[in-house]
Amino acid sequence: MDKDTNWKTYTDSNIVKYYSSLSQIQPAEETIIKRFQQQLSTMTMLDIGVGGGRTTKYFSNVVKKYIGIDYSPEMIEACKKQFFHANNTILFKVCDARDLSQFEDNSFDFILFSFNGIDYISHNERLQVFQEIRRVGKSGGYFFFSTHNLQGIEQEFNWKKHLSFNPFMTYVNLVMLAFLRFFNPSISYHQLKSNNYAILKDESHNFRLKTYYIRPHQQIKQLEPYFSHIQVYSWKYGHEITQETELISNSEMWLYYLCFIDKNSD
Ligand SMILES: C[S@@+](CC[C@H](N)C(=O)[O-])C[C@H]1O[C@@H](n2cnc3c(N)ncnc32)[C@H](O)[C@@H]1O
Repeated sequence: MDKDTNWKTYTDSNIVKYYSSLSQIQPAEETIIKRFQQQLSTMTMLDIGVGGGRTTKYFSNVVKKYIGIDYSPEMIEACKKQFFHANNTILFKVCDARDLSQFEDNSFDFILFSFNGIDYISHNERLQVFQEIRRVGKSGGYFFFSTHNLQGIEQEFNWKKHLSFNPFMTYVNLVMLAFLRFFNPSISYHQLKSNNYAILKDESHNFRLKTYYIRPHQQIKQLEPYFSHIQVYSWKYGHEITQETELISNSEMWLYYLCFIDKNSD
């Protein structure tokens, strides 16, 4: 695997420190813990892109067995330090999501790739990751992850949206737009409007990361060859988005997707 710009960012000691300091659960993750509370104690879980272990705090104690992986050795080192007291039902390993060959087929009941970790992988490799997750997941198991919403960022590229009655707000918004345009010189609002997905640099970690953004409908379509019963959850509020109108107009920066693994028809 090539050691790309994103990998360099995620091995940076300051970025590792930042992720190790995070402790808050996201609303959609909380919804899923409640939804699966009866089953979690029987589940073997794979937490992909575990970072500094934010989600370890919430899941590792409630599942039967927990494995946290990350392609950044520095992140895994930080997790091992933080959870040094953990018993052998909690494991951390350096592993790239694009190659899960160290895990056998049908190993996990619940697979998590939280906080948009999948968005730091190229388009073709993203499909490869879904394939790998399906392979290591058990039939009847679940994959839960979040991804950036193109409907959220495209508005940021629209200068008209940044005009406000408050001159200071207008100024701040336009400076932000200038940064976005500077770091993404080949991307325009009109171009984004006609795309189903885009890879761009947003303000996270000072525009260092190349981040994948996708429309919710396109995300569902992309998942369908690998998973079934796909449900979308609001990142901010944690509820399931069941209405078509809400999905089409949703402009949250990212959304969560719950996917069912069904291998009976293979
Ligand atoms: C935005 S951080 C989220 C960290 C953590 N899940 C959290 O919620 O705080 C994304 C994480 O995904 C990891 N990551 C990105 N691409 C990966 C890949 N191909 N394989 C494994 N981990 C990856 C990064 O190293 C980073 O730790």
